[in-house]
Amino acid sequence: MSSELAIRVEDVSKAFAVYDKPHHRLLQQLFPNAGRNWHREFHALRDISFDVHRGETVGIVGRNGSGKSTLLQIICGTLTPSAGRVQVNGRVAALLELGAGFNPEFTGRENVYLNATVLGLQRSEIDARFDAIADFADIGEFMDQPVKSYSSGMYVRLAFAVAINVTPDILVVDEALAVGDEAFQRKCHARIERLRNDGATILFVSHSAGMVVELCNRAVLLDRGELLAQGTPRHVVSRYHKLLYAPAHRAEEIRARIRDDEDAGVVTPVGRDGDDTADGSYFDPGLVSQSTLRYPSIGAQIEDPHIETPDGTRVNVLRGGGSYVYCYRVRFDTAAVGVRCGMLFRTTTGLELAGGVSATPGEGIDVVEAGSELAVRFAFRCQLLPGAYFANAGVLGLDGEAESYLDRRIDAIMFRVMPDPDRLATGLVDIDVRPSVSMDASAGACP
Ligand SMILES: Nc1ncnc2c1ncn2[C@@H]1O[C@H](COP(=O)(O)OP(=O)(O)OP(=O)(O)O)[C@@H](O)[C@H]1O
Ligand SMILES: [Mg+2]
Repeated sequence: MSSELAIRVEDVSKAFAVYDKPHHRLLQQLFPNAGRNWHREFHALRDISFDVHRGETVGIVGRNGSGKSTLLQIICGTLTPSAGRVQVNGRVAALLELGAGFNPEFTGRENVYLNATVLGLQRSEIDARFDAIADFADIGEFMDQPVKSYSSGMYVRLAFAVAINVTPDILVVDEALAVGDEAFQRKCHARIERLRNDGATILFVSHSAGMVVELCNRAVLLDRGELLAQGTPRHVVSRYHKLLYAPAHRAEEIRARIRDDEDAGVVTPVGRDGDDTADGSYFDPGLVSQSTLRYPSIGAQIEDPHIETPDGTRVNVLRGGGSYVYCYRVRFDTAAVGVRCGMLFRTTTGLELAGGVSATPGEGIDVVEAGSELAVRFAFRCQLLPGAYFANAGVLGLDGEAESYLDRRIDAIMFRVMPDPDRLATGLVDIDVRPSVSMDASAGACP
């Protein structure tokens, strides 16, 4: 295998024996040559081939049961393929399903030594890295408790801490990151990015389209054991979403179309998937605000806050510089006067970044009748830099002289601005910098 390749998967198939009744398994073992089979074969993978080059970060996506974990296990050597072969070039650290790799009776500390030894480290090397591992795992005195007493979050913290601190050539991660809390997930992402920048090869399974688009240079779509598409993360994720949200009666047709496009070599240019919006923004159903706070409503209800493109397609992964509309409706149960509506974008740390109101104080809608509904739209240009953001929505009315909130939602929706490697702007807001750097001290000097 070329030294440029980290992983080569060639025509890999995996069939599991499936027994309809438990005692059939026993019969099969007792009478293997009885002239009949007590099992049927279930093909979890069929003829899978793909290469992962050194330094690449590759994401595997697919619906539940599509064969992702089976494929990772075969790559890591914990499962043998029924046909085909896998070649791996370099030290592999794997984070497979919970439970793999640790002895439940051993303490966290003992498991760190056990696990790191399996991954090829000498005792002295583990001694040198132990503090960094414990620091990353951050599980306090649980380090000296048997891991069978751990919560699944603690377990993943420790497993991840070991896997990344053995500086693997190849890191294989199966969904494990979905278990930890938000802060730990962010820490893992940062660490994966660092490993990636240091040239490690990373292969990971994720249900988060956002993460695949952000972290990977390439992605693979598995469906019912078949490799249905591979290519740029956005190309693959958009096909995955098509499958995931296909109405039942069209699922087969959509599946066939994806496969045919792929066979015919239809290549979608990066950032311009046929199914997405013209500017490349799209909707990631996994991007849901988990911190929505709703104030008690006083006669009005904010409904359906969302972002759409100017032509009305809902999106929550936006392109920097693109034009969008933040929309919501307000239903009035009682009449209101002096009505104004507002919006505000905040960062994950709660920093109030940008917002607007529909009218200046005193200039709101004079009277809104009970039973009526307002359609509120704030068109905006996305001048935020890549990252996650949250949007508030609020509707104000006059109560005598004073203005108060009739309804208000904090972190009503979450959205993301996608990375753009060509950007020169840094920070949170794009102020449209136009740099000019010259060797000549007098050129371009301020008058
Ligand atoms: N040991 C086994 N015996 C029989 N069938 C199995 C076995 N392991 C996996 N399968 C089947 O193979 C298929 C693929 O399973 P796999 O766990 O690889 O899917 P997955 O894509 O990782 O799914 P998920 O998104 O739910 O994690 C499933 O239908 C599963 O039931
Ligand atoms: Mg799985």
